[in-house]
Amino acid sequence: MTARHPSNTDGASWSIDDIPFGALAHEQVRDDQRLFYILASASFIEITSDLYARNLIEFFHRDGDVVEWLRQGWEKEELRHGVALKRYVQTAWPDFDWEAAYRSFLPDFAQFCTVEQLADTPALEMAARCVVETGTAAFYRMLSELSREPVLKQLAANICADEVRHYKHFYRHFLRYRAIERPGRTAVLRTIWNRTVEIEAEDALYAFRALYRARNPNTEFRQKDYEDYRNGVLQLSRCHFPRRMAIKMLLKPLDLNGAVGGLALATATSAAHFLLLRYAGRLPDASLNRITPTNERLTPLLRTSS
Ligand SMILES: [Fe+2]
Ligand SMILES: [Fe+2]
Repeated sequence: MTARHPSNTDGASWSIDDIPFGALAHEQVRDDQRLFYILASASFIEITSDLYARNLIEFFHRDGDVVEWLRQGWEKEELRHGVALKRYVQTAWPDFDWEAAYRSFLPDFAQFCTVEQLADTPALEMAARCVVETGTAAFYRMLSELSREPVLKQLAANICADEVRHYKHFYRHFLRYRAIERPGRTAVLRTIWNRTVEIEAEDALYAFRALYRARNPNTEFRQKDYEDYRNGVLQLSRCHFPRRMAIKMLLKPLDLNGAVGGLALATATSAAHFLLLRYAGRLPDASLNRITPTNERLTPLLRTSS
């Protein structure tokens, strides 16, 4: 499938043409395999945002304002992220056949992205969207701050600003739906937690596997290749992930007072760690067992906040 190329006619603050791909400092990135996999994976996931948009539009079909923004604002901007990242990857690694690798990624990913994965109510789904936008905003902030290559630095900063704006938009709708539905804090917290953990699911693995096979046509893909990559990204992000920013954004929909806030902070810290894994990959099962809604961190918070 050839991805679409949205134009900048929707009032967005930047367009693909603003990014000086011709000025890319090739020597800074050419041999950075980890960066290649990170950026190409992100391009695959972003450029497939129409699948997420379709699910969300179906879920919010009674809300004309939300549907309009999802179609005319959010989806176009997410697709633009994908197109810009694709252009970057093709410029930085010109021997890589992006289109062929994407064709092998899409069928696996499409069957994983279904409407059943959305939350139980509109307010809770808006809270869950805040989690997703927190993860992407923090990820691109990290990329921008880490990058020594100036074109990537600018591109990641632009995308980060969009993701923060998306967060604010979903948060505003969350407040509107919360006033109608009045969900308990426990329900909001569980939703935030569940979406955070779900984010580390299959999409990163599918993207890596398709990329690995394209890069290594004569080598069989092994789970260990993915684990090595994932560990490398985790190592990178342990020092550079903007936790403070992520925690602040995760806590906002919970609207907690100081007494409960301390416990929520511990939970949000764990949640921020999970957010890394959308691009870093699946956790070992043992790690998932350590941090579940029944663990010692979350249980007292759920009790206090009911
Ligand atoms: Fe995005
Ligand atoms: Fe976004």
